[in-house]
Amino acid sequence: MDIVEGLPQGKALDLNQSGPVVGYEPNMVGTNGYEETSGSDIVVITSGFPRQPGMSRDDLLAKNKEIVGGVASEVKDRSPDAIVIVVTNPLDAMCHVTFDTTQFPRQRVIGMAGILDSARFRTFLAWELGVSVRDVTGFVLGGHGDTMVPVVSYTNVAGVPVRQKISEQRLEEIVQRTRDGGAEVVKLLQKGSAYYAPAAAVAEMVDSIVFDQKRVLPCAALCQGEFGIDGLFVGVPVRLGAEGVEEIVEIELEDDERAELEKSASAVQELVEALRTV
Ligand code: LAC
Repeated sequence: MDIVEGLPQGKALDLNQSGPVVGYEPNMVGTNGYEETSGSDIVVITSGFPRQPGMSRDDLLAKNKEIVGGVASEVKDRSPDAIVIVVTNPLDAMCHVTFDTTQFPRQRVIGMAGILDSARFRTFLAWELGVSVRDVTGFVLGGHGDTMVPVVSYTNVAGVPVRQKISEQRLEEIVQRTRDGGAEVVKLLQKGSAYYAPAAAVAEMVDSIVFDQKRVLPCAALCQGEFGIDGLFVGVPVRLGAEGVEEIVEIELEDDERAELEKSASAVQELVEALRTV
């Protein structure tokens, strides 16, 4: 569904026509109204303005609050049992807007960010070491912004802690490139923001829910005491299954990582407060 006439219909037609080649039935519907979305099991909200070069995700707060609030209200009325995956930036704040508007239980409002940020981190690490990304495990927690926390202590290559393979200084550079990962793409594209990696990350979440895979993936979830965070959507490891967020998986963090996570949560808190005044 999109407000631009013709765009969702054109995309649907194009996607349907890849069905015979890729191997699925061409049942996709593109629409400008919400009626066709009624009774959805899963809703992915990507509506809103993307970043322009030089903008931070937070610069989008006021505009996208209005857009996402409107979409969430339609979802609440038409698909009251849906699990909602939020993608619009600033991500953590838009999760709050969706949660407040729909008043769905916290299990059913989830933000997509951690998988994307972790995928960037894993990509850069794989390139650095010349190994397959399949063997690089690592995850990024915290808000989806400049304060995100790539958790180096749990990052490994085929089980070997990455600190044994890459110097602290080089790791710091890779962490920073991860934090700037979205902006790097925006700067290159000049128009629009990252597309394929965010879409792949959303698809991984949808699969885990639809097929009840119970994957443990970093996603933005409403913490209620977990990690010492209360009442905020922050990127944490979650078990994703048919019920949505089935568990927030708490892990031990090193002192500096815990401090960085707290700092990141404060940044989200500031955005949530700013939501009240924009
Ligand atoms: C990014 C956007 C999707 O990180 O937030 O590319």
